[in-house]
Amino acid sequence: MTEHPLARVTGLQKTFGDERLMSTNRQVFRAVDNVSFEIMAGETLGLVGESGSGKSTTGRVLLQLDKPTGGEIEFDGNRITGLSKRELKPYRKEMQIIFQDPYASLNPRMTVGDFVEEPLIVHGLFKDRQQRRARVMELFTLVGLDQSFATRYPHEFSGGQRQRVSIARAIALNPRFIVCDEPITALDVSIQAQIVNLFQDLQEKLGLTYLFIAHDLSMIRYLCHRVAVMLRGRVVEIGPTEAIFANPQHAYTKALLSAIPVPDPELERQRRPIGFDYQTQKSPADAQLRPVGENHYVLA
Ligand SMILES: Nc1ncnc2c1ncn2[C@@H]1O[C@H](COP(=O)(O)OP(=O)(O)O)[C@@H](O)[C@H]1O
Ligand SMILES: [Mg+2]
Repeated sequence: MTEHPLARVTGLQKTFGDERLMSTNRQVFRAVDNVSFEIMAGETLGLVGESGSGKSTTGRVLLQLDKPTGGEIEFDGNRITGLSKRELKPYRKEMQIIFQDPYASLNPRMTVGDFVEEPLIVHGLFKDRQQRRARVMELFTLVGLDQSFATRYPHEFSGGQRQRVSIARAIALNPRFIVCDEPITALDVSIQAQIVNLFQDLQEKLGLTYLFIAHDLSMIRYLCHRVAVMLRGRVVEIGPTEAIFANPQHAYTKALLSAIPVPDPELERQRRPIGFDYQTQKSPADAQLRPVGENHYVLA
């Protein structure tokens, strides 16, 4: 990991609803509400929070798959907000996304080899077909799939193997940054650790930087250097993973952590999940992230 931020969002905002009514109609829904964070090169930043808290929207807007309604996005020191499609093209190669359901993102009528090859064709990376196929084989090996699988179709694979195919495609163009949007949530628990290990492996080998989205904190603990906790479109706490787990500051983070089952049956019996009162524990609109420890901030 280095000390320079690869991606940075500042005051990011994404509202849904009729924008013409914005000033008079307060019904406009703020899916992402004034979110700021940095992701260092080589780092994995976890983004957690319950369903609907704005995690996927944050990821999509950061990649410019959706336009923000406010705020700035920088990639490798360059402002990418407001760029045209053409101006964005070089950044498209550098930034990829992996989704929860690999089956939905795979094309059922394409062999998985062709599916992995497609971005190489679109970006014209190899003129020579043989070289391109060699790259596809290399990608299969990198993600732990047998090269002979390349001629098969998605339905012939297990969930974990399909996710490996999606990962192979995502890294095909040598990206530097990947948004992983709940990439293990849909997999069998027994497979989840393997895929998490693959992400770690690829990070080391390829120097990747991740925004890793999840709705629970258990895998995050092993994978992420830092964690950001989202609640109703806002980051309510962000800090080093150890600090978040050992010393959570926000009531919502405490509630999330208390909901993780403990492997020890005796401790599990004693565990008392903490509730979170959504009505009374609202952060005021002008709340700011304030430091509570080294690199550790809470909304207050
Ligand atoms: N295209 C859209 N139009 C309207 N509302 C949306 C759209 N996309 C997301 N939302 C809303 O924004 C909120 C945040 O969604 P999302 O970012 O998908 O949350 P998460 O990934 O944390 O589950 C949700 O309430 C969702 O219904
Ligand atoms: Mg989501």
